[in-house]
Amino acid sequence: MRATAAILLILCLLAASHAWDCQPVVDIKNLMQIDAGLGQMVATNTSQTPYYLVGDKWITLPGSLKHITVEPAGIWGINKADSIYKYVAGSLKQVDAGGNQFIVGVYMKDTSFCLTSSATVGYKGPSSPLPWTGLPGSVKYSSCGPFGCWAVNKNDDIFLMSLNQDCQNNGWSHIDGNLSMIEVATDGSVFGVTSAGSVYTRDGITASKPEGTGWSHIPMCMIMKHVTYDLGRLWVVSKSGFAMVCPH
Ligand SMILES: *[C@@H]1O[C@H](CO)[C@@H](O)[C@H](O)[C@H]1NC(C)=O
Ligand SMILES: *[C@@H]1O[C@H](CO)[C@@H](O)[C@H](O)[C@H]1NC(C)=O
Repeated sequence: MRATAAILLILCLLAASHAWDCQPVVDIKNLMQIDAGLGQMVATNTSQTPYYLVGDKWITLPGSLKHITVEPAGIWGINKADSIYKYVAGSLKQVDAGGNQFIVGVYMKDTSFCLTSSATVGYKGPSSPLPWTGLPGSVKYSSCGPFGCWAVNKNDDIFLMSLNQDCQNNGWSHIDGNLSMIEVATDGSVFGVTSAGSVYTRDGITASKPEGTGWSHIPMCMIMKHVTYDLGRLWVVSKSGFAMVCPH
């Protein structure tokens, strides 16, 4: 089993595109999801153990999380009971702090909310009021960056919403394509994975054209389930739980 996996990985690396020179991330297996931001790296494995990368070593973090994210507003996680943790509890399924201005989470009933940054940083615990502002749309995965928030709904349709710091927005705009998850990096670049496991990036994103110009396929020789990007490096997790890091 291990040998087969290693052979598949070698075949994969041999076939990989040269634009993204992927290398396996050693020392960690059975990954579920990863998140890179501000030079930091966190992950969860399929047993919901959270990890933090220190140098080239993964150390486990306390708790049990199904999703973890590292952002300017801190490290956030969600457990399998859909409680949000900044090592305090809330009630969100998936949350992503981004763009250092706000975080957008996905509430249990697939309703998206916006939380201003000052509130995020100051959030102390379940007793402190969360100033979520209801946002239009029904999303299963969302991620925010300096030029707005991207989301996918349960049909894998893609949406973009520009937001200001007060969570004011003009609603979701539909973007062409289909993705099952999408991540915006702190520099505004956008990466996603289709339900079939293909990795895409959005071209031409600028402050004046936050929707960019189109999708580019990033060839990977494995079926992927998760992607994140930070400081010029793309981190991917295969459906089988392999992690690879791909400097551009
Ligand atoms: C997840 O990580 C924990 C802690 O290192 C480990 O005990 C567990 O076996 C891992 N799960 C899988 C599926 O590898
Ligand atoms: C997205 O899905 C729709 C139908 O759901 C399909 O018509 C379209 O070709 C897909 N687009 C891409 C880029 O895969």
